Order: sequence, then structure tokens, then C-alpha cells
Amino acid sequence: MKALELQIDKALYFAEKQFNDNLDAARAAITTLEEGTGAGNDFLGWVKLPGEITEELIDRINATAKRLQENCDYVVCVGIGGSYLGAKAVNTALADNFEYYYAPNPKEPKVLYAGQNIGEEYTAELEKLLTGKKFGIIVISKSGTTTEPAIAFRILKELLEKQAGKEAAKDLIVAITDAQKGALRTLATQEGYETYVIPDNVGGRFSVLTPVGLLPIAVAGHDIKKLVAGAVEMEKETLHDSENNIAEVYARMRNALYQSGKKVEILANFDPKLHYFGEWWKQLYGESEGKDQKGIFPAAVDFTTDLHSMGQWIQEGERTIFETVISVAEPAVERRVPSDEANLDGLNYLAGKRIDEVNKMAELGTQMAHVDGGVPNMRLVIKTLNEHTLGALIYFFEKACGISGYMLGVNPFNQPGVEAYKKNMFKLLKKPGY
Ligand code: PA5
Repeated sequence: MKALELQIDKALYFAEKQFNDNLDAARAAITTLEEGTGAGNDFLGWVKLPGEITEELIDRINATAKRLQENCDYVVCVGIGGSYLGAKAVNTALADNFEYYYAPNPKEPKVLYAGQNIGEEYTAELEKLLTGKKFGIIVISKSGTTTEPAIAFRILKELLEKQAGKEAAKDLIVAITDAQKGALRTLATQEGYETYVIPDNVGGRFSVLTPVGLLPIAVAGHDIKKLVAGAVEMEKETLHDSENNIAEVYARMRNALYQSGKKVEILANFDPKLHYFGEWWKQLYGESEGKDQKGIFPAAVDFTTDLHSMGQWIQEGERTIFETVISVAEPAVERRVPSDEANLDGLNYLAGKRIDEVNKMAELGTQMAHVDGGVPNMRLVIKTLNEHTLGALIYFFEKACGISGYMLGVNPFNQPGVEAYKKNMFKLLKKPGY
């Protein structure tokens, strides 16, 4: 099978007319995106980004990652939103579920995250963990002025300088920011940190395939060359309009469902490693489409876990939802349900079956139940969880998001709404100028 396949038959039934009617709108959206003639066209650098990533950049990122790996037991990625979620999603998808319970090893330091919240206890507990430890920092901010990462960086920089000394600390800090603008660029230049540039024409939530995502992913020990190769493959596959362009089909289907009254899309996974992929996807679609009083509300669930919490609502609550399920065709390992002589739990009917077979039947049973209950269901099948398929999945969702946003009639590449809370917060905190 291909890295990624999309099945829409269990959704089409609910909005077939709208789907057939929106072909021209989708084609127009693709042309607008590829010719760069639409709203937000100064933020389209991500469209051709995978194919433009050079060997030199990959090699340089890998060299930086190696330096951090060799000198650190922990590397803290400081960033929020688009400067955090992509790396967190990929690193979680590729990591052992219990990686944080193992001791750090010299080849793969633990990658930690900070600056994605303003929790005082989170900050204090991170400081406590890092006290007396060998650690490094990747500080990521396109604007260079975002409050959450700025606070976290100030604290971690101080701790690192205290522990390693100011000179040595410089080699353990890498800044990823705008080429020229912003406080972080100024600081990095003054201090002499190694830096990477976030291209001007790539917005935060589309930046995972720039150093923003690539460096933390490389530091965690993953093969960024394969990640980029997967994205390049999907870039080619979703180029131009065609029946086989799965980004176009996904964008059309979700817009058709929206027009038929389905206002909420639930991205579901059946593998806990994909939890943060849901978080990344929520930002990508939420921030891109939720504007002008329009937009599908993106929600995410982990199945079967959340079938025991959200399952009731999804099955019988207000019929304004549809589901997109990410299914991993082939897990990397094989485990079977053991047989038990006493069979007190009555589970011997499953003895000898793979855990994944049980999971897949849960998935099928859920799909049948939800479709019967009036929930349209799309299914995205990934061959297996690895760098290549995740690269393809990232680019697929990005491309579909651009098409979908233009079909909806919004500018998918701005986020004016996120300033509202900041203005109030700054005023309340008496920031000069507010
Ligand atoms: O997608 C976006 O633009 C946002 O989520 C930003 O990535 C986020 O607000 C962080 O911004 P910055 O990288 O400027 O610190």
C-alpha cells in the first residue's frame, strides 16, 4: 500500500450532492494556492517547501543535533503553538510510549518541552529536574516576542549559565527565529548562539518541516531525511487537481459535510502515539479556518480510551459531528492475547489473536456504530508509523488545509483572533504601551 490512503465512502453517503457540487470550488482553490493568487499569499512558502529542503540544511541540522546529543542528557525545546506542536507530534509518534521512564542515554537525550504554558508549577518542576543535569536549549519563536516561551527561556538560560558557565552555555543554546526581526534574533546575535531561520513566508502552524520541527526531531534521534522524503512524495502526489489527489478529496468531503450541517470534525486515532498529532492537527485547522464566524470546529479523541468517555456523546449526542479516523495498518511489533486455563475473565475466545486484531475490530465496530448513529466517517490509513509516513501525513494535512480554507472562503494563513487575549493580558500586566 501507499504511505497514506483516504477512504470516504462512509462519509459520502451523508453529503453526496454537496460533494459533487463542490468540485469546481476545490479546483479553483488548488489553482489559487498553487499560483499564489489568494488571500495570505505571502505565507505560501510551505507549499513547495519539502522539495526545496537541501541536503546541506539536513546535514547542518543533523550536525547540530549530534552536538546537543553528545553534550546533553536533556534538551528543552522552548516554543508554543506552531513553534512546538509539530515536533511534539512527530517525536511522540515515533517514541517508545515509556521513553520518559528510561534513563537518558548518550545517543538520545530526553527531549522536553517548555514555554507552551505559563504554569508556575510546570516551570518550577522543570527547573528541579534540570538542576545539576547536563542540558541544552532549543528556543523557537518566529516573532521572537511571544510571552510564554520568552519567560521559559529567561529562566532556563539563567539556570544553564549558572550550571555550565556563560561561555559553555552559548554552545548549548540554539535559537530558531526570523532572519532579522525580533528580540530573539537580537539576543542570539549578541550572545553568539547558533541560529536557524524560519522562512518569512512560512507561518508557525505550517513550519514543522523547517528547522522548527526538524531540529528537535533530529535531536530525539529520528531520521529527518526520511521525514522530508515522505513529505516530498506527498507534495508530488497532491500536486494539481485530479481524482487521485487525496488532499483535494479530503478538503471537498469536509466542506461538503460542513455545508450539510456537520460543524464539528473529530480526528480520532486508535494508537496512543498519535495523541499529539491530534493536537497539531487541531491547531492547523482551527487557526486556519476558524474566522469570519465560519469554520469546522476541530476536536480530537484517542480511541478506544475515549470511547469510554466521549463515546456516548459521539454515538447519540447532537448530530452535528463527523469523524476522521487515522488508522495505522501495521504496527511495528507483534503481541498476542495469552490463553488462560481458568478463563475466569472469559477472554479465551481471543487467545492467540494479535492485540492489533482486537484493536482493528474495535475500530470497525466503532465505525459501523457511529455511521449507523448518523456520524459520517472518513478513514485515513497510514501504512505504519515511521518518519516516511509521518512526513506524508504532515504534508497531506497542510495541503488539504490550504485547499479547504480557500473553499470555505477565508484567509487560511492569518490568525488575527489570537491577538485579543494578548492585548487584554498585556494591559492587565501593565506592559508599556498597552
Ligand atoms: O501558527 C502560528 O502562527 C502560532 O501558533 C505561532 O506559531 C505561535 O503563536 C508562536 O509564535 P512565535 O513562533 O512567534 O513565538
